[in-house]
Amino acid sequence: MDDFHYRQGQLYAEDVNLDTLADELGTPLYVYSRHTFEQHYDRIAAAFAELDPIICYSIKSCGNVHICKLLAERGAGMDVVSGGEIHRAQLAGADMSKIVYAGVGKSDDEIRMGIEAGIGWFNIESEAEFENIDAIAKQLGKTTRGALRVNPDVADPRTHAKTTTGKKETKFGVDIERARKFFETYGKNEHCRLNAIHLHIGSPIYSPEPYVMAIRKALALIDELRGQGHEIEAIDIGGGYAADYEAGKSPAYDEYAAAIVPLLKGKGLKVILEPGRTIAGNAGLLLTEVQYRKQGGAKQFVIVDTGMHHLLRPAMYDAFHFIWPTRVSREHAPGPRSESMDLPALETVEIVGPICETGDVLAKARSIPPVKRGDRLAIFTAGAYGMAMASNYNAFPRPAEVLVEGDAYRVIRRRETYDDLVAAEMANVGAN
Ligand code: LLP
Repeated sequence: MDDFHYRQGQLYAEDVNLDTLADELGTPLYVYSRHTFEQHYDRIAAAFAELDPIICYSIKSCGNVHICKLLAERGAGMDVVSGGEIHRAQLAGADMSKIVYAGVGKSDDEIRMGIEAGIGWFNIESEAEFENIDAIAKQLGKTTRGALRVNPDVADPRTHAKTTTGKKETKFGVDIERARKFFETYGKNEHCRLNAIHLHIGSPIYSPEPYVMAIRKALALIDELRGQGHEIEAIDIGGGYAADYEAGKSPAYDEYAAAIVPLLKGKGLKVILEPGRTIAGNAGLLLTEVQYRKQGGAKQFVIVDTGMHHLLRPAMYDAFHFIWPTRVSREHAPGPRSESMDLPALETVEIVGPICETGDVLAKARSIPPVKRGDRLAIFTAGAYGMAMASNYNAFPRPAEVLVEGDAYRVIRRRETYDDLVAAEMANVGAN
């Protein structure tokens, strides 16, 4: 369970009253629980402990430097996808040898940055990219390591089409047939040593089976490659472990581990995991305030001060996020979350934001306790791919981020100002 809970009808993050917090810091506001982050990291580490894996937190899910720092301090490596994320990992004090870097479009500058930083592995997405990394390492007089990203042609049918990656026809990695050829051609290169296999089959993956299928295929490939004299040191099994958007329950790390650990034990492989959502998802929520109520045809609109610009997931993937007022009567203080939507005396509303698009909807036909102007709502499980995907669309400053630690809190990203919105433009004024 996460650390967001109701006490006598008032929502708390750990021991901090969220209305008091909103009074002090304003809304919209991303609120994270340090304890939830730490619990999730520790529990995934414990579940997979037998393999002594490198757990590379996927920065793209929630990349705030302070969050990365608290995970790095617990021993986490980082999964990055850009030079900007390498920069975040460096600022967080992460151990660079525990950085894995995937992404189909790494630029020369980003590759140089990764090599000079001494990252653990480049996750290799194509032949052209491998040749470029090898050549750049040679120019720099350095060596680096490559993990070939293989598409095992496996997917979870429940994963959204926009976030499934393990099928043959994606832009990511290469298929198994091409992987054999890849090692034949580049397996002996010296500046980028190809000595690992990387998988990432999509996000979220709700059950262990797709991992099991993918890992079996990868292990068969590794046996073959070893048989041909290639040294394979590591297998990176990617991320994708789910978060509970309905009830906020703790992710089922033990279930994944029970299926995955026996496959990888004793294989002489360093195991790497890249969890993002499962660590960050339930560790954060987005706090918003009701601006207006409005009727449109038969629909009741609740218009709030956040929307698709701050939490894109509902608009982009039709994603469900449980939403509930921060102050409720005793009868509406939720137990398991989405079940609360069956409680009596709720109303059905459309929860929408201020953006000039019809698609700016946070929840459609949603049951919530009645709310009025000035009331606050919490949008749960917004820690992953929330602020990370937020934009300044329509020139709205992005929310502040606050990290709750017991009965204390720290602003870990201040609220943006109107000047922030135009700062990069002002710097160029007169530059022609
Ligand atoms: N490793 C690689 C190579 C990835 O591409 C990703 C996510 C992860 C790890 C972490 O996946 P996670 O454990 O967080 O599921 N914006 C979408 C999700 C996009 C995921 C992109 N890659 C969403 O909001 O659902």
